[in-house]
Amino acid sequence: MNTLAVHPSVPLAARSRAETEPATRPFVPGPHGTHITVRGLRKSFAGQPLYEHFDLDIPKGRIVSVFGPNGCGKSTLINMVAGLVPMDGGEALFEGKTLRETQIGYVFQNYREALLPWKRAADNIRYALRLAGRTRGETEARLEELVRSFDVRFDLNRYPYELSGGQQQLVSIMRALAPEPEVLFLDEPFSALDYEMTLFMRDKLQSIFQQTGTTMVLVSHDLEEAVYIADRVLLLTRRPTRIAAWVDVDVPRARSAATLADPRFVEIKARCLDIFQREVPRH
Ligand SMILES: Nc1ncnc2c1ncn2[C@@H]1O[C@H](COP(=O)(O)OP(=O)(O)O)[C@@H](O)[C@H]1O
Ligand SMILES: [Mg+2]
Repeated sequence: MNTLAVHPSVPLAARSRAETEPATRPFVPGPHGTHITVRGLRKSFAGQPLYEHFDLDIPKGRIVSVFGPNGCGKSTLINMVAGLVPMDGGEALFEGKTLRETQIGYVFQNYREALLPWKRAADNIRYALRLAGRTRGETEARLEELVRSFDVRFDLNRYPYELSGGQQQLVSIMRALAPEPEVLFLDEPFSALDYEMTLFMRDKLQSIFQQTGTTMVLVSHDLEEAVYIADRVLLLTRRPTRIAAWVDVDVPRARSAATLADPRFVEIKARCLDIFQREVPRH
């Protein structure tokens, strides 16, 4: 194995220990301000490694965008951390807590399959709140609060099939945020929406983030979107997947259409593209 291919932030000493005594390796916490700590993650599909000895620290109260080549394991990564796909090895902790002890939210890429079709939009949200243990009264109060903060202008008493794609995805995001999760995972949440709706939803998500400060991990295959939305961009390599780089997006919020032409924004986007092209040579 070529150890030089390992991400440089993983000390070689820790790495050789992991190889010799994986079960007893002490858990190394992330730097101050870390929310999610992933250590020693391993995952293969059909004998082909996707992740090997993968370590990751996700900061608290920030939006992280995950960007990388198609098939590099972006969805699998957040699905493993969110407990939807099993890891072959390793662990993820949320400020030292297990997933079981943590309230998370998840927004799926395909909004058409995300909402319960036999429940009205409002009942989809109520259902999430009741599952999270809220009383009937608390559920109604929280629903009203969500309608206000999302500035919902359509009828939530409609069924999902009666709503547009954008409206359905908005309901999915409201449902995921309803129980006030500590972390919100979003897998390409806007990829099935038209451009106008995508712009609207990005800004909605940003304003909710500014109101709540919820840690968010958003997968995107659109570099401009990844940079626009994030405080930090996590750039991944081709599989077996490593961290290519972390890029800080020190562009003030609230970001808007004007941000896309801001020289600082353009520079950061170019830097990300440069890293991507270096790490992902064309075959
Ligand atoms: N359930 C599965 N069975 C077999 N291979 C899978 C499965 N899920 C994902 N993969 C493979 O793992 C790789 C990463 O997939 P995925 O996480 O969906 O990538 P991304 O979201 O970055 O496009 C791909 O090569 C994909 O084909
Ligand atoms: Mg994916």
